[in-house]
Amino acid sequence: DMANYLGRLEKQFTLTPQRMRMIVDSFVEVLERGLEKPEQEVPMLPTFVFGWPTGKEKGSYLAVDLGGTNLRVCHVELEGDGKFEVTQTKYRLTEEQKQGDAQDLFDFCAECLGNFVTDHFGDEDGKVELDEPIPVGFTFSYPCLQEKIDHGVLIRWTKGFGAPGAEGKDCAALFRQGLEKYKVPVDLVALINDTTGTLIASSYVDQATRAGIIFGTGCNAAYMEKIGNIPKIKDLGLPEDAQMAINCEWGAFDSTTHEHLPRTSYDIHIDETSNKPGEQAFEKMIAGLYLGEIFRLVMCELIDEGILFLGQETYKVEKHYVFDTAFLSLIESDTTDELLTVTGLFAHFFSLDTTIAERQFMRRLAVLIGTRAARLSACGIAAIVSKQGLLDEAYDPAKTIGIATDGSLYNKYPKFPQRLEEGLVDIFGEKGRSIKTYHAEDGSGVGAAVIAAMTKERKAKGF
Ligand code: BG6
Ligand code: GLC
Repeated sequence: DMANYLGRLEKQFTLTPQRMRMIVDSFVEVLERGLEKPEQEVPMLPTFVFGWPTGKEKGSYLAVDLGGTNLRVCHVELEGDGKFEVTQTKYRLTEEQKQGDAQDLFDFCAECLGNFVTDHFGDEDGKVELDEPIPVGFTFSYPCLQEKIDHGVLIRWTKGFGAPGAEGKDCAALFRQGLEKYKVPVDLVALINDTTGTLIASSYVDQATRAGIIFGTGCNAAYMEKIGNIPKIKDLGLPEDAQMAINCEWGAFDSTTHEHLPRTSYDIHIDETSNKPGEQAFEKMIAGLYLGEIFRLVMCELIDEGILFLGQETYKVEKHYVFDTAFLSLIESDTTDELLTVTGLFAHFFSLDTTIAERQFMRRLAVLIGTRAARLSACGIAAIVSKQGLLDEAYDPAKTIGIATDGSLYNKYPKFPQRLEEGLVDIFGEKGRSIKTYHAEDGSGVGAAVIAAMTKERKAKGF
């Protein structure tokens, strides 16, 4: 029955502090391996973003942000004192755009940027006359191999994207083709991951920042590394003491051997039915794209076993990915005794009546899935903190280790931030309280602008 089932699920979804520490240890090794050699599972991608911003970067920039759910076009005015103004337009991407020809997708990005430029910089007839093209940063949040900042070869699509014609290609070049097609008067100066953008945007306003992490449709992290600690780029002859941001692409952790993560049958099912089986194992247990589906799969199993929704038509919840992660957030935020929001949710979206016992079960299940995601995320953060030795002997308990974050899971899922921080204390003990996570204001837009400004300055100095 339901209680028995719940007991079993609790066992499968609960991560003890001891287990978490084991995950962290192997995670640190994997991060190091990625810095050492090219083409590792967690690729630890050099970003060619050199060092921290000063906070004094200034000027007018454009940013195009192709995430997992939305396309955003922003104009960012950096004021040079850690302050900024952002104006933006947002478009929701369709499934056709995610799966159709890649050039069409990049053309669409260019077209949206073109319209934005006309609206904001055009005269009454829509004519745009500029002294020089406006610098644009392209936040393209997929794993890209970069040899320089304004270029990036897509290693593989993630987050359910499948557009043929992009993998193995330089996506900055594909975007440039679109810009030429629509004659957009801009200069593409940088291709950036959203985590790197978040890292740099946060550091622009807060020097305690040590990592930039996205908990959204996907999940990933970036941090700043000493170039001497990146053996795989030794041949470039860059100064060993200088620093470069690393886009970890940690979503790929434990994808091939499955030695470290406690995957359930539901996680395996998600992986095997995804458009990218055998990839992004860590991300598939954490990210917003998948949490609702994990919940739905458990529910479907209980329907099959004759435990939930007896005698009712259940076909509406039996469709892949119909159970959005936002529903989990709603279930977790219902504080009424009768769980009335849950009643409404099932009635309205799935035409299902629920008993109070069923609703309590759902709530417990949501807590299990949401908590596991946060605790696994804490393992990733702990790995980055450990890798940098930030809590070693010399650490100062009065100093904050800042973890800048963005994304719908962190911003909207109830208790996600608290659970993350509890997880960090479970891993590190009291020391873990020095690690603080916070939402970075418009990481991608501002980050892209600051990086574009840093790149301009660096090039002017001939570095
Ligand atoms: C947005 C950032 O705020 O968060 C994007 O601007 C990022 O760059 C996104 O990709 C991640 O969140 P979600 O929930 O939209 O995937
Ligand atoms: C996926 C992408 C990664 C991105 C993350 C968050 O993991 O591969 O590049 O940073 O999603 O958007």
